[in-house]
Amino acid sequence: QDIPVITIDGPTASGKGTLAHEVADALGYQVLDSGALYRVTGLAATRAGLDLSDGEAVAALVPSLQLRFVAGEIWLGEEEVSAALREEATGLMASQVAVHPPVREALTALQHSFRRLPGLVADGRDMGTALFPQADLKVFLTASASTRADRRHKQLISKGISANIESLRADLEARDARDQNRSSSPTRAAADALLLDNSAQTIEQSRDLVLTWWQERR
Ligand code: C5P
Repeated sequence: QDIPVITIDGPTASGKGTLAHEVADALGYQVLDSGALYRVTGLAATRAGLDLSDGEAVAALVPSLQLRFVAGEIWLGEEEVSAALREEATGLMASQVAVHPPVREALTALQHSFRRLPGLVADGRDMGTALFPQADLKVFLTASASTRADRRHKQLISKGISANIESLRADLEARDARDQNRSSSPTRAAADALLLDNSAQTIEQSRDLVLTWWQERR
């Protein structure tokens, strides 16, 4: 059965998640936020007192995670963890556990299970290269580091969380470097991905461009 897949990969805070939801809403498709799976793994491993540099130990924890995805919420056991997952500290834990091939393998089947009718929009770092290499449309989303730091800053301020823009930028550049330089599934545009730099675009413009590409592919 042919279930269509659109992949959106790109660096930290490039707007992948927002774009993925906009496109999925317009098409009535499912969304896979693969970063959330690495985040929940990093968070659970930290809480369990594991050494995040021990890939085997972190991977061994994955099958025991009691994860549930309910209407945009993510539950870990009896706790709704969406807010905890979005914290910068959790993003850092995610990128630490994401370097290990056994952790990436342990999360593969779960990610594939999001491919359900009528279709899937998957966002992350390696959706078009590793998880869904046969995707019907692959987008690689970028934005300048200053644009990304600025957006992340506004997002935090709007939630009443104080943040320093310079340290945000340093954090996201450090995370990008780790994600790009790791040997296992680094952040890369697939050879057949379409590049979209949204530094100077509104979310509506980016969404409409992707929907136009999608119509051209179908
Ligand atoms: O996209 P998000 O910021 O939520 O991802 C958190 C971290 O999870 C990334 O910095 C990256 O290290 C890791 N990740 C990954 N592969 C993906 C999605 C996220 O390695 N497909």
